[in-house]
Amino acid sequence: MSEVKRAATPASADYEIRTQSRRFEDQVVIVTGAAQGLGRVIARRLAEEGASVVIADIQADRAERTAEQLSRQTGATVISHTGDLSEVGVADQMAAGVYGRFGRIDALVNNAAALIRMRLVDFPESLLQDAVRWNVWNTLRACKAVLPYMLEHRYGRIVNVGGEAWRTGLPFHTVLAGVGKGSMVGLTATLAGETVRDGITVNCVSPGAVESGADGDPDPQPAGFRDPSWTPPEVMNELINLVGHSAAGIGRPAHPTEVAAAVAFFASREASFVTGQHVGVSGGMAML
Ligand SMILES: NC(=O)c1ccc[n+]([C@@H]2O[C@H](COP(=O)([O-])OP(=O)(O)OC[C@H]3O[C@@H](n4cnc5c(N)ncnc54)[C@H](O)[C@@H]3O)[C@@H](O)[C@H]2O)c1
Repeated sequence: MSEVKRAATPASADYEIRTQSRRFEDQVVIVTGAAQGLGRVIARRLAEEGASVVIADIQADRAERTAEQLSRQTGATVISHTGDLSEVGVADQMAAGVYGRFGRIDALVNNAAALIRMRLVDFPESLLQDAVRWNVWNTLRACKAVLPYMLEHRYGRIVNVGGEAWRTGLPFHTVLAGVGKGSMVGLTATLAGETVRDGITVNCVSPGAVESGADGDPDPQPAGFRDPSWTPPEVMNELINLVGHSAAGIGRPAHPTEVAAAVAFFASREASFVTGQHVGVSGGMAML
């Protein structure tokens, strides 16, 4: 039998998604963790579709610069709000400020996270507390902060950015994925249930590997920019070995625009009859 020949796998850049849609005209959306990476690309996509976008991020300079660049690129109003969303009052102040300025908050995309990976047994106490704060409290506080405004308008879209490692049982991901993203999926379903008659939908989009450096930033973060204690080099090497040899899924990382396209759907009016759902946008890394 002759061997089936496969074309060489192209880089994810070949899969960049562009849009002509304008589903967010007159709408106001908040994207957390949008100073860089996937969040930046989600913010750009929503701005391209006509939204006024608020970039909420702990990195003041980068958030401000990203807002200016996206505003110039898309012609939309893009502003930044700086603060650690896991801290008491930061998300509330942001939501009040956004509502005060625009008079509405149509959608919230919970993308901010801290990519801290190691075996549970190896976590120093202080890093364990940081990892839970920056992967659980951000989302919970941001949801609670926008809900009063969405309830008042009887309209809202909340999209949580998860990740597939919690359901593939990937080592080193017990806190980031098991606790962070696993609880996010539970939050998605139960908050969707709480708001199901209020015009609000809550859904979760889980990427697998994303080429988040392909975020279009003219001054991108250098390789290895995160605190090296977050994912020690030996953990990173073992992960690359594990994931690199895995035949699961399409076999390439997503271009961030591929994930942003799915987020934009759930954040739009078009997703009016979809709530409490979790969808892997992970090239088939996990199925169903
Ligand atoms: N990169 C991947 O391969 C991948 C895979 C699966 C899931 N994800 C998820 O996608 C999302 C984005 O990932 P990324 O690779 O772009 O990450 P990233 O680290 O490049 O960006 C995260 C952003 O969140 C901000 N942030 C973190 N904690 C914050 C806080 N407490 N308050 C305000 N801002 C805060 C950071 O400053 C940063 O700008 C995350 O939720 C991540 O878990 C990413």
